[in-house]
Amino acid sequence: MSQAALDNVTAADKLRAAAQRRKTRIGEVVSVNGSHALVMLDEDRPDLDRVHRPQLGAILSIDTGTCIVLGLVSAMSVPAPSLDSGGKDLRIIELELIGEFTKPTQKTPARFRRGVSTYPTLHDEVQLAAREELAALFAANGSASVRIGVVKQDIAIPATVSVNDLFSRHCAILGTTGAGKSCAITLMLQAVLQRYHHGHIVILDPHNEYSHCFGSDAVVFDTSSLTLPYWMLTFDELVEILYPGRVNCAEEIEILGDLIPVAKKMNLGASASTAKLMAERREGSNITVDTPVPFRISELLTLIDKTLGSLENARATGPYKRLRARLHGISQDARYAFMFGGLTVQDTMAEFLGQLFRIPVEGSPISIIELGGLPVEVAQVIVSVVTRLAFEFGLWSHGAAPIAIVVEDAHRYAPAKENVGFAPTRKALVRIAKEGRKVGVSLWVASQRPTELDATILSQCNTIFAMRLANQADQEALRAAVPDASTSLLACLPSLGLGEAIAVGEGVPLPTRIRFDALPRESVPRSLTASFTDGWSVDVDDKAFISRIVEQWRAQKLLLPDV
Ligand SMILES: Nc1ncnc2c1ncn2[C@@H]1O[C@H](COP(=O)(O)OP(=O)(O)OP(=O)(O)O)[C@@H](O)[C@H]1O
Ligand SMILES: [Mg+2]
Repeated sequence: MSQAALDNVTAADKLRAAAQRRKTRIGEVVSVNGSHALVMLDEDRPDLDRVHRPQLGAILSIDTGTCIVLGLVSAMSVPAPSLDSGGKDLRIIELELIGEFTKPTQKTPARFRRGVSTYPTLHDEVQLAAREELAALFAANGSASVRIGVVKQDIAIPATVSVNDLFSRHCAILGTTGAGKSCAITLMLQAVLQRYHHGHIVILDPHNEYSHCFGSDAVVFDTSSLTLPYWMLTFDELVEILYPGRVNCAEEIEILGDLIPVAKKMNLGASASTAKLMAERREGSNITVDTPVPFRISELLTLIDKTLGSLENARATGPYKRLRARLHGISQDARYAFMFGGLTVQDTMAEFLGQLFRIPVEGSPISIIELGGLPVEVAQVIVSVVTRLAFEFGLWSHGAAPIAIVVEDAHRYAPAKENVGFAPTRKALVRIAKEGRKVGVSLWVASQRPTELDATILSQCNTIFAMRLANQADQEALRAAVPDASTSLLACLPSLGLGEAIAVGEGVPLPTRIRFDALPRESVPRSLTASFTDGWSVDVDDKAFISRIVEQWRAQKLLLPDV
């Protein structure tokens, strides 16, 4: 019997056990309207302890005969409170119907499915979902799911996520600063890698906080250890670096677009793989400005010089001179040394991709790219190139080695406003969000500001972990991104505790409030919260303190204090 079938059978057994247990009736259905139902609560039950009284977000079950319909408590009220103390109040609970269990029979096991096929009718009995029902629900994912925390309604029940859905259909982790997003990412990746050791995960880490979280499972890159050759950039990316904003430089861009393919063809044949390309493409006639083959900046400069020699009139030479100066400038710029700094130009593409995407894994399935302390433009370029390469790698490899890209502070790289930020970065991220599923590339985004994040990306994230979020506008943005049935759960966003989340979407069996497991201390991402009281209690008497800071500043190298 397959693992999935075994899982189904155990789920069925658990359900049967649930049915045999004494059910906790709490009321009856008094109205059904589409996927909403109203429940009138029975008279106060002193035997129900506080823990078992339905709360917002709790899951109730209704036996409709053929199925057990599950509903989520979205609101509760006493519409007309009586004034005298002895009077009986009408107590109403609003339910959103989210799915149903088919009842197990001799031949078919119980199955959970989203959506409701048999609606409850008036006076149907409403019960608190039994622990076994909830457990069966979270176990329904079977072998391809991993535990990430517990269900808030009953912390004895493990909350699980379906690994395939979580990755193939992208995931967003949203919440205010300090809500626990980075911890949640670490925890989920650890849980997945514990089971699937040969992952290919790239974390783009703008705060340099992940390096110690995964021990030997991760390889850490910064601009001193990462060499990202300029010839791997697309024309768009190169132009954005040379002429950010592309103001008054149309002629230079045009010249560059003409010269790059020439320089690329000049260099063909330098390595075995490009020599093959040359043979196949008849003297390199199909090399375009975007083909990722090596070329030398020095050859570009020589080409410009040659043209300059043949031009006489000053108007015509202007753009060539400006382009020459710009190319020379950027190849000397220390900030871009990881791109333009190499003395020789070698075809390192295969090596580079292997290292970056961990193919072969060699015991470290995660690449962490530290972007902290880098100038904004440089970080943008790295994010753009890495995400684009991941997509193209997926495309050309037909998703044979699925890759996940985790982007922290995603609103920086794919901002909601069209004309803000580095255009190729947004383009690369949006492309993965839209088409990544088909080529085996997954996008995980973390952000404090859903309003500032590109709406296309957010809408393509089919699993959302919404953590504490107080800002009204951010809550609205989130509400627009989640399915209707889950919106009522989002009402408790401002009151969520540390490490708690509303989990909605494909990756979880049903929308629920969960609490992530606690990470061991050594795996907690190093997010520093400055303590003013500590800092202001003692004087800084180290004379070299400021000089050290200035030194780091000039070297553009952020050294985080040990914690
Ligand atoms: N699951 C958890 N296990 C252990 N500690 C946690 C957990 N979740 C949150 N914390 C604690 O909360 C702190 C803040 O969490 P975290 O760094 O993940 O927040 P964040 O949402 O990523 O914040 P920011 O947006 O500023 O990056 C952590 O330093 C840690 O002490
Ligand atoms: Mg964080």
